[in-house]
Amino acid sequence: MRQLLVIGIGAGDPEHLTLQAVRAMNEVDAFFHMHKGEQKDQLAQLRRDLCDAHITGSYTWIDVPDPERDRTGPGYEDAVADWHEARAGLYEGLLLDLPEDGVAGILVWGDPALYDSTLRVLDKIVARGKVEFTHRVIPGITAPQVLAAQHAITWNRIGGAVQVTTGRRLAAEGLVADDTIVMLDAHSSFTTVPEDTEIYWGAYLGTPDEILLSGTVGSVGAEISRVRAAAREDKGWIMDTYLLRRP
Ligand SMILES: C[S@@+](CC[C@H](N)C(=O)[O-])C[C@H]1O[C@@H](n2cnc3c(N)ncnc32)[C@H](O)[C@@H]1O
Repeated sequence: MRQLLVIGIGAGDPEHLTLQAVRAMNEVDAFFHMHKGEQKDQLAQLRRDLCDAHITGSYTWIDVPDPERDRTGPGYEDAVADWHEARAGLYEGLLLDLPEDGVAGILVWGDPALYDSTLRVLDKIVARGKVEFTHRVIPGITAPQVLAAQHAITWNRIGGAVQVTTGRRLAAEGLVADDTIVMLDAHSSFTTVPEDTEIYWGAYLGTPDEILLSGTVGSVGAEISRVRAAAREDKGWIMDTYLLRRP
């Protein structure tokens, strides 16, 4: 039976690849890679570098363009569902091209359990029932873990709860928990929280371009917005994560 290994590779630092991930990468005959366009070339290159550095045998690298997500209509969830269906169709075709005993691999940024669609897409392929395969997940180090390490902080306070959310939800719902980790924020949504909230912010975590800033939102919020906009302009893309801590 065909196998598919979903391998978490960490969020930018090549040294965050686990020994288990390296072992799994060496089992793979063909890596499926959804190409997201030129601005993310650097991230694609990191994946290739990890393979070059750690795989001792031969393997195939299959690049497929990521289907376009409809960002024009009002229905965010419908657009994402359509996009996942399109991805499922593409992976399904690639799996059908694999020999019956072949092993495919998908390298997932960070960990597959956190804001990543790969496992949902695989469920769709299983539901379509056109190709039989087994799959296994290898965990990776997530961006919030790297953020906490770089700032030398914990996510939670003693016995406390932590919420992990998106910039979109933070802007809509405000702070729900005492400690909140925010990802996928295109709009500096931390500017919407009370000024005495502490923020621990990190961009391009684990990479040579890493930027870290911290303080209260009132004291560093404007600087983070400015640094963020300049970095985004300079590189053409940004990935940032932050923790908000209510006093
Ligand atoms: C689609 S999610 C993927 C998360 C990933 N699966 C993980 O485990 O970290 C992308 C978001 O992760 C965060 N992220 C990923 N890599 C990052 C990095 N190197 N530095 C800062 N934030 C990062 C950003 O919030 C970005 O918008």
